[in-house]
Amino acid sequence: MAFEVVENKLPLTEECHHYENINEVPWDIQKYWHQRYSIFEFYDYDIHLTDDGWFGVTPEPVATKIAKDLPSKNKTTLIDLFAGSGGNVIAFAMAERWSRIVAIEKDPATLACAQHNADVYGVREAITWVLGDSLAYLETLRTDPGSLPAALQIDDPVHTATLFASPPWGGVSYRDHEVFDLSTMQPYSLAQLHEACYPLEHTLFLPRSSDLRQVARLAPEGGKIEVVQYCMSGASKAMVVFVPATTGSHASQKQ
Ligand SMILES: C[S@@+](CC[C@H](N)C(=O)[O-])C[C@H]1O[C@@H](n2cnc3c(N)ncnc32)[C@H](O)[C@@H]1O
Repeated sequence: MAFEVVENKLPLTEECHHYENINEVPWDIQKYWHQRYSIFEFYDYDIHLTDDGWFGVTPEPVATKIAKDLPSKNKTTLIDLFAGSGGNVIAFAMAERWSRIVAIEKDPATLACAQHNADVYGVREAITWVLGDSLAYLETLRTDPGSLPAALQIDDPVHTATLFASPPWGGVSYRDHEVFDLSTMQPYSLAQLHEACYPLEHTLFLPRSSDLRQVARLAPEGGKIEVVQYCMSGASKAMVVFVPATTGSHASQKQ
């Protein structure tokens, strides 16, 4: 699957829902629906999600804090590689810290929800929307940047761009393990994600129980990475790892 810039708003589809009543909500997402106002404060203003979207969306207070915490010294472009329903990218746009924000999502119905939700928060036009495979985009940025559409070209990305990745957490269920082995994460392992993002600055939004030994291997030689647990109501929602850009030589991560 390639990628394309979406100039206009994609239409919401029958997979995009705004559930108003518990009776409409599939049983396996009812627990998330009860938390709808901590997920999107303005849920009642017609926020839409696909049923899958409920499992992966970053709650607004966490997304807002991450948008403030991203290092991003001198970075002008932020690319959200897995935009989902917009939980993070809306917060990035609202933070007004980057002159360009790119949101990439491979599922058209989910992207339609994200655009619609960004409208609710008044930031849709501040975001460049891309339908397609973010890893294919990174590969093109690395190998053939001149072939990218103008809206996706980046001058000197190591110094000017920062990546945010909140991938799906599928695989051997992270909930069933005290320590989650990031080499089993599906469809992208930690090594694959890091390899795709390297050498650019990147922030990874990972399960809270992720194996710190695997995360530590992302650190540049003699350097540091920051690892933060983002919490709500006394419980961690995710482990977030801030990996700096690599400007010198770098031994590729080994799992
Ligand atoms: C955990 S969700 C992201 C949630 C998002 N941060 C939010 O707050 O709404 C992961 C998303 O990545 C999308 N995705 C998976 N692989 C992708 C790829 N290669 N390129 C772009 N999007 C992808 C999935 O369709 C899913 O919507």
